Amino acid sequence: MNHFEYKDGELFCEEVPVSQIASEVGTPFYLYSKATLTRHFQAFDSGFEDIDHITCFAVKSCSNIAVLSLFGNLGGGADIVSGGELFRALKAGMDPKQIIYSGVGKTEEELRYGMESGILLFNVESEQELHRLNKVAGDMGMKAPVAFRVNPDVDPKTHAYISTGLAKNKFGIPINEALDLYKQAAEMENIEVKGVSCHIGSQLTLISPFVETLRKLKNFVGRLTDNGINIDYIDIGGGVGITYDDEEPPHPQEYAKAIKEELTDLKITLILEPGRVIVGNAGIMVTEVQYTKTNRGGEKEKNFVVVDAGMNDLTRPSLYGAYHTIQPVKENNGASQVVDIVGPICETTDFLAKNRDFPEVKQGDLLAVMSAGAYGFTMASTYNSRPRGAEVMVSGNDFEVIRARETRESLIQGESVPGFLEN
Ligand SMILES: Cc1ncc(COP(=O)(O)O)c(C=O)c1O
Repeated sequence: MNHFEYKDGELFCEEVPVSQIASEVGTPFYLYSKATLTRHFQAFDSGFEDIDHITCFAVKSCSNIAVLSLFGNLGGGADIVSGGELFRALKAGMDPKQIIYSGVGKTEEELRYGMESGILLFNVESEQELHRLNKVAGDMGMKAPVAFRVNPDVDPKTHAYISTGLAKNKFGIPINEALDLYKQAAEMENIEVKGVSCHIGSQLTLISPFVETLRKLKNFVGRLTDNGINIDYIDIGGGVGITYDDEEPPHPQEYAKAIKEELTDLKITLILEPGRVIVGNAGIMVTEVQYTKTNRGGEKEKNFVVVDAGMNDLTRPSLYGAYHTIQPVKENNGASQVVDIVGPICETTDFLAKNRDFPEVKQGDLLAVMSAGAYGFTMASTYNSRPRGAEVMVSGNDFEVIRARETRESLIQGESVPGFLEN
């Protein structure tokens, strides 16, 4: 359930008409509902309230410090994949002892930053990373807390581009080879072996791949114990899907129940890294119609609705062919036609929707692109030199800009014309 609803023919976010925000902030913008963010965080987290666990929100999915601060206040931690995400989490006041660091390409500087910040765990993804971390920690006179991200070779049955736990994917250490690395790590002076982690993919609509993964992890933990290596944490990653169109993902409580059933005989703290399931349907993107046009010729005519948000603002449709529901902000029961909803970017892949039955709209109409809270703003770019849009959060009948719209000046920030080009 979310708090984006029509009242008297107008789309509201909680108690605020979306059109009011548009007239004050301009378009395009990303809009988050605090009540929905809170509700979704608690719906997920409460599923695990009877066991030791940390819900580490996947910062990559929505990294605004206002959002992170909200989840920190609700008791959440952070799953980060870069020094930049660590900086954001700390700025938002999140507890470093609830921060875990994943990712295949951590630089030496990023490892040092993680150590200095006193984070809970590094999810190490290769032997070379382990050696680098051992050295960094040694130089700092510290011990680095480590979990290895293992790759269980489980098919998450999701889009190939967001599948991460198959042997052919770049992520993690093959589960069959990980034991040797654990043994090596246990002998290292500046490494403290703490856990095992895993993330098999995103937008999963089935529970079975999670269960299969957890069984493999449990079996692996048994082998670790047999070798005298005891761990405190199992990190099962993120990945629970949401409804964009007609998907029927498991309810977070159903997911929690299945995970807990697998864990009954283990004395560990469970770490979870949800992103999309918490923020995906807690945010929308609002855009304004600029033009409508029909291109004739070829096999048949094609109708276009050209809006002021493009693939640089919401890249999922062009990147993965992803579906987002799009609806007029003022309810429109007019006759529908089949349209492509496209942006202003000079690329044919610049579309938000293709061949969509859509009521007739006109210049100046506002459209809401639903389910844009996850991997929306965070994947936005300034391609075609388009300043990125504002981010706004609503709470009840109040709203605030939580990230100002970028300006043309900000587009060239840090750029200069070198002396040798000047006459
Ligand atoms: C390591 C890791 N953890 C967590 C997530 C979050 O996944 P989701 O947003 O599907 O929950 C991702 C997303 O790709 C990830 O790579």
